[in-house]
Amino acid sequence: MKTAELRQAFLDFFKKQGHAIVPSSSLVPADDPTLLFTNAGMNQFKDVFLGREDRDYTRATTSQKCVRAGGKHNDLENVGYTARHHTFFEMLGNFSFGDYFKREAINFAWTFLTGKENLGLPEEKLWVTVYASDDEAFDIWNQEIGVPAERIIRIGDNKGAPYASDNFWQMGDTGPCGPCTEIFYDHGPDVAGGPPGSPEEDGDRYIEIWNVVFMQYNRQADGEMLPLPKPSVDTGMGLERITAVLQGVHSNYEIDLMQALLKAASDILGGVPTTEASLRVVADHIRSCAFLIADGVMPSNEGRGFVLRRIIRRAARHGNKLGATKPFFYRLTNALVELMGDAYPQLVSSQKQIEKILLQEEEQFAKTLDNGLRLLEQDLAQLKGTEIPGETIFTLYDTYGFPVDLTNDIARERGLTLDYEGYEKAMERQREMARGASKFGIDYNAAGMKFEGKTEFTGYEHIDGHEKIRTVVVNGTEKAAEAGDEAVVVLERTPFYAESGGQVGDTGLLTWSGGRFKVTDTRKEGENHLHIGTLIEGELFPGLEVDARIDHARRERTKKNHSATHLLHAALRRVLGEHVSQKGSLVDPDKLRFDFSHFEPVTPEELREIERQVNEQILENTPVQTEITDMEKAQEKGAMALFGEKYGDVVRVLSMGTDAYSVELCGGTHVSRTGDIGLFRITSESGISSGVRRIEAVTGFGALEWVDETEQTLRQAAKLVKGSRESLIEKVQQTLDRNRQLEKEIDALKAKLASSAGSDLAGSAVDVGGLKVVAAEMEGADRKALMETADQLKNKLGEGVVVLASVEDGKVTLVAGVTKSATGRIKAGDLMKHLSGQVDGKGGGRPDMAQGGGNDPSKLAGALAGIPEWVKNNLG
Ligand code: ALA
Repeated sequence: MKTAELRQAFLDFFKKQGHAIVPSSSLVPADDPTLLFTNAGMNQFKDVFLGREDRDYTRATTSQKCVRAGGKHNDLENVGYTARHHTFFEMLGNFSFGDYFKREAINFAWTFLTGKENLGLPEEKLWVTVYASDDEAFDIWNQEIGVPAERIIRIGDNKGAPYASDNFWQMGDTGPCGPCTEIFYDHGPDVAGGPPGSPEEDGDRYIEIWNVVFMQYNRQADGEMLPLPKPSVDTGMGLERITAVLQGVHSNYEIDLMQALLKAASDILGGVPTTEASLRVVADHIRSCAFLIADGVMPSNEGRGFVLRRIIRRAARHGNKLGATKPFFYRLTNALVELMGDAYPQLVSSQKQIEKILLQEEEQFAKTLDNGLRLLEQDLAQLKGTEIPGETIFTLYDTYGFPVDLTNDIARERGLTLDYEGYEKAMERQREMARGASKFGIDYNAAGMKFEGKTEFTGYEHIDGHEKIRTVVVNGTEKAAEAGDEAVVVLERTPFYAESGGQVGDTGLLTWSGGRFKVTDTRKEGENHLHIGTLIEGELFPGLEVDARIDHARRERTKKNHSATHLLHAALRRVLGEHVSQKGSLVDPDKLRFDFSHFEPVTPEELREIERQVNEQILENTPVQTEITDMEKAQEKGAMALFGEKYGDVVRVLSMGTDAYSVELCGGTHVSRTGDIGLFRITSESGISSGVRRIEAVTGFGALEWVDETEQTLRQAAKLVKGSRESLIEKVQQTLDRNRQLEKEIDALKAKLASSAGSDLAGSAVDVGGLKVVAAEMEGADRKALMETADQLKNKLGEGVVVLASVEDGKVTLVAGVTKSATGRIKAGDLMKHLSGQVDGKGGGRPDMAQGGGNDPSKLAGALAGIPEWVKNNLG
């Protein structure tokens, strides 16, 4: 049975048992920042298990895309070296949400595996495990299914804590969990290994194929197990593993799907044997990389993007090991799309994008790899012992973009180990430096600074208010502040916006009779707004009532920039495509900065169109609408939410522009009508990492100022070339043409000069052991002129040695040439090493031509004078 047929057979079987076939969810978990990637079939049903969400079915079945690389379940470093580890795999599962429980779940699994009309596996090849205290599961297996007791193994808390067991499954440190029963397949006595629970269990003979979890608890952060509203079932069977069993092969890499990928990779890499470990790495990695990109992940230097980058680089490195000299990995996409496109249509629609991003990343990596490998080789040459120092690992990572696992791969090939501890230390040092560089002087997170309660925010409607102070903190302790103190102040209510969603916090003043507190920033801690600043006069203490007033003009400018950011985001998606998603945003009074995923520079035409659309929306001057609603309604409206961002039950939906041009979830402050933005100008577009671009822009008066400055620059430039705004381009073009003309003339003159200097110098040659030797300084000559003169002199001399030098800005330039016929007797490279050393410099080169430089012109004359002597002494 082929992999694709098996996937379908599983889904069909459970459909017949009343299960809804639900599509695989994205590899980027929705609304779950605790999870790096989707790593199990149950992820998308987490809230259903917890009773927080209802679906219109109580039985479901899926074939779920999973990635286990980075985060809690990380298999990356093993991939390629074992028979069963993958970065990407498919998990077949069936789920019951308060519907059936242990008995049916066990029966379904058994029937599917052993039933003649299903997989028909021989019963005696199957073993099972149950959680040690789960007598119920034991009895079902033993008495109802008929598995002999000696093939049912009880597994207790074998991982060192209550519920820490191979037979107790949990998604993460918190959330749904429960005891499980696992089904193992015995690959036979030819393979080493013992049954589960035995000391030899890690061998490859008994392989877990199906995990059936009885979801019963919701684990709390403090370890408490609260019962779930209804006992449920979550199962998972690795598609690749069960296919291997059915196809009678031992390794997942021998199944049809992986073989086809291996074959395709081998063809691309010029016929490498499909048994190579490195080829397995490549064939495995194309699946995770392609699926991750199809789900919107872009290579970057943090979070999910960084894991993707690591996987791509690991694949590229293994390709290099197999002899690839140019990008190859991206070419494997086509084979993958042919193999898996039917089951996962988004692979087909994203193929171009996947190829483009992989190619770009491979090209970029080729550059860093060269530099990094050179550094590593240098360090390894001096290595004492067999451990690569932490500093080296860190520099490779930090400067050359070498993921640590890559360095580890190289180390493994050479029988070396890594000093992980030293690496962590170097890393921590850097983190500390980054923290130190943070712009906020006051550490409001310092120990003991927990703020109870909640600040009510009045700033959507108001810019000031008469408010009561709840807490004052000076130097990390709650106490009254005195004049001159830097302090953190919490009010019951406030018009001050606290930094979030990219928008900076408000600044302003708190005033009262005899007192003034200058707020220089507002930040959030839990649900409180912290006013950070300095007490200018008076005393400040809890209970005091103050007039709180924000810097209104600053807020107004910030608002314009924030609203324009929403219009920009919408325009980007319309002009560049739906793949554009927000990667970062900063909105302050002076500008807006927006980072987004896109795989190539935005062209000037596209930028113009984006700018035009935003300004069109501004000119249409439609009212900006705010609606407070729930997440579901917001999504119905098509509101853009950000990956990995956690939204509460109540969300704020901002709609802007004609025909809901932009609809976004946002807690920030905005203009009332789009026309308030005034004018929008993009000031720059650049790349900040692979696949991520940055646009900076200005609005309102800021935009006017920018236009004005541009105008000034144009005018000044026009004046310099004695033209007008209209004739500027033509005048500049004329100037450039003239320049080019002059350069040509200079070159011609230099050549003439060199040749006449050459003739003069030829006359000064001295004879050393049958060779003509010239060593001279040429005033005012640059390197090019020195080289040309040296070449001409060599022609003239017939057989000889030429050394030429010049001095400019305190630096010596050196050139040495030896006629071809004489290179057997003396080498220009050696001569240059000697000479440059004398003038405090460096140099070297080929036997017939060498170059160098030096820092001490005062030694030059002596060094040149000594050349004939040196030649004499070193002549072969
Ligand atoms: N959620 C269970 C697992 O991943 C089935 O093994």
